[in-house]
Amino acid sequence: MSGGVVIQGNFPIPEERRDQLQQLATELNREQLMWLSGYFAGAAAAAPSSIPGFQNNLLGGAQARAQIPAAATAAPAFVAPAPAAAAAPLPTLTIISASHTGNGRKISEKLLAAVQGIGMQARVVKAGDYQPREIAKEKLLYVVISTHGDGDPPDEARGLYEFLGTKRAPPLPDLQYSVLALGDTSYPKFCEAGRVVDERLAKLGAKRLLPRVDCDVDFEQLAQTWADDALARVREIKDKLAPVGAPIATGFSGQTTAAAAAPVPELTRAQPATAEVLANQRIVGRGALREVRHVELAFPGLGNLYKPGDALGIVHRNPEPAIDAVLKATKLDAGATVTHEGKTHTLLEWLRDERELTRIARPLLVQVAKHANVDISELLGNASAMAKLTATCQVSDILGTYPAEWTPEALVNVLRPVTGRVYSIASSPAAVGDEVHLTVAVVGSDTDRKLLAGAASHFVVNTAVDSNVQVWIEKNDRFRVPADTSRDIIMVGPGTGIAPFRGFVQEREATGATGKNWLFFGGRSLYTDFLYQLEWQQALKRKALHRVDVAFSRDQAEKIYVQHRIKQAGKELFAWLSNGAYFYVCGDASAMAPDVNAALLDVVREHGNMDADDAQAWLADLTADGRYLRDVY
Ligand SMILES: Cc1cc2nc3c(=O)[nH]c(=O)nc-3n(C[C@H](O)[C@H](O)[C@H](O)COP(=O)(O)OP(=O)(O)OC[C@H]3O[C@@H](n4cnc5c(N)ncnc54)[C@H](O)[C@@H]3O)c2cc1C
Ligand SMILES: Cc1cc2nc3c(=O)[nH]c(=O)nc-3n(C[C@H](O)[C@H](O)[C@H](O)COP(=O)(O)O)c2cc1C
Repeated sequence: MSGGVVIQGNFPIPEERRDQLQQLATELNREQLMWLSGYFAGAAAAAPSSIPGFQNNLLGGAQARAQIPAAATAAPAFVAPAPAAAAAPLPTLTIISASHTGNGRKISEKLLAAVQGIGMQARVVKAGDYQPREIAKEKLLYVVISTHGDGDPPDEARGLYEFLGTKRAPPLPDLQYSVLALGDTSYPKFCEAGRVVDERLAKLGAKRLLPRVDCDVDFEQLAQTWADDALARVREIKDKLAPVGAPIATGFSGQTTAAAAAPVPELTRAQPATAEVLANQRIVGRGALREVRHVELAFPGLGNLYKPGDALGIVHRNPEPAIDAVLKATKLDAGATVTHEGKTHTLLEWLRDERELTRIARPLLVQVAKHANVDISELLGNASAMAKLTATCQVSDILGTYPAEWTPEALVNVLRPVTGRVYSIASSPAAVGDEVHLTVAVVGSDTDRKLLAGAASHFVVNTAVDSNVQVWIEKNDRFRVPADTSRDIIMVGPGTGIAPFRGFVQEREATGATGKNWLFFGGRSLYTDFLYQLEWQQALKRKALHRVDVAFSRDQAEKIYVQHRIKQAGKELFAWLSNGAYFYVCGDASAMAPDVNAALLDVVREHGNMDADDAQAWLADLTADGRYLRDVY
């Protein structure tokens, strides 16, 4: 009900009609009223005016209509066709972009420009800006969604993702849609988020305009094919519903996204900047099971390019032992020249800079086995064997297991393009100027098997002070300190998850934030793994940090993790949250983040006196408010 709408004044409408209007205006809701306004505008455009002065104005005159800029005619909400035209209104296409590292965002914006290029109303909405209930109004929807964490949706899409799985999700019989899923076949839950969204929409009664497409890391070609098909389908709908000249209706408060703005040049893995290594020091004690490094990098102007919460990508080279092992397994000459997809390098350069040698993906396994004429269908169907294989093997192991004759070209063709690795930035430009600090755990340093060494972390650990590396910035606008600096923040960052919070604390101190900062940290042992311990102690003294709760799992008989500390501090934590605090989590996606979520749920249930459903809804609201933020990997 709209309520409070009063029609008065000197209107050219008879009194009895005015009563009817008054009644409608009071009874109808906002959307119905907007639709009616469009409907009457259309009807008026087709009817001759008897009122002097209205002949040539916006409502009645063809001449005046011709003067309205195209954008203005397209923009108003719910512009219904004139009854005479009687064509069904052409719905606005919504493209929901649920992306974490920006791949999906770029695809969505390119598709938007193409759709607008055929004269169709369309908008791209970031999943984090999308009100889940708005889905009931959609008629045409494309969802471009990646998978992160351990088969999770990107953080910005959590609200929508969860909503679609609840009883509150509306039936969607009038919706036509398609999903483009982005993922990485080296993860066990390949394109899980896209698959789930696709299924949830179908379950709610929506009809697929196109089948879902699941893309691996080399997504460009497949994504373009999906986008071409997606464009063709909306073009067919447009041609059917809106013959040339027919008015177009929009369903969403009239606002459509302008065609994608000219892209601002930004650093990418393909176009990185050169940074100097200023420091690279071990920050764990002797006897630590895992090596962790504090790394500092800089170049002039770097401080203007990032904010705490962003990550830094480092262009790495594969470790020599991994390259040698591939060459040995294939008996190929490192100096052979290979041209592939327009690029020419020696085989050594392909293996060092361009191809993935340390992460195993299913398609690679399939193709290597096929090349060797081995049937691996049984292995492919065994999830636990596959998980073990991808966690413990590198490419050379697979090539050794399925020996075959290789040419340099066939090998380069079969290996996957290298995936960029990024590291949470552990500094604030407000404190360190043009430097970036990182906290890098060296994968594989706790094993003697050199071949299991993580490619990028070993590259980083071996970069010498004063040398140069190629870097790019990965923005993460979803993971920022609160704009309102009086808000309190709670940061949960065990292990390298601590990194962004070092940046947050620096930023809050440098900008004079008045809100309090509470940190939860965890590691194996206080004696070896308390990263940046001295800095936290000093920050506590300066009141730049107000509370630190630590959990060292192996310093006592029973294992204690951050989630236990969260529960122990539940009463106070709930009071902080109720008072408007932000809750941040960074670090391990597979075990830590779900365990912290479960602990938080328990805290809300117990200290908020709620049942499980209400506690879940409370956390969903916290997420929707942008106060429960995660950056997990
Ligand atoms: C947004 C984001 C922020 C990140 N921030 C940080 C950070 O601040 N500090 C940091 O150290 N890392 C961080 N990472 C992880 C980092 O990007 C790399 O994934 C990590 O360094 C491993 O890469 P690698 O090339 O050394 O190992 P890879 O060559 O990718 O892996 C080698 C082998 O080890 C396995 N493996 C990979 N990672 C792990 C692991 N953590 N534990 C056990 N086995 C593993 C792989 O499955 C593979 O078999 C972040 C990742 C993301 C997405
Ligand atoms: C930390 C992390 C976890 C990921 N987890 C998965 C996963 O579980 N399943 C999957 O298919 N892809 C996974 N991916 C791969 C991404 O979905 C893929 O890189 C995608 O192209 C990212 O798209 P975006 O930039 O739009 O977010 C993961 C990537 C990262 C960085």
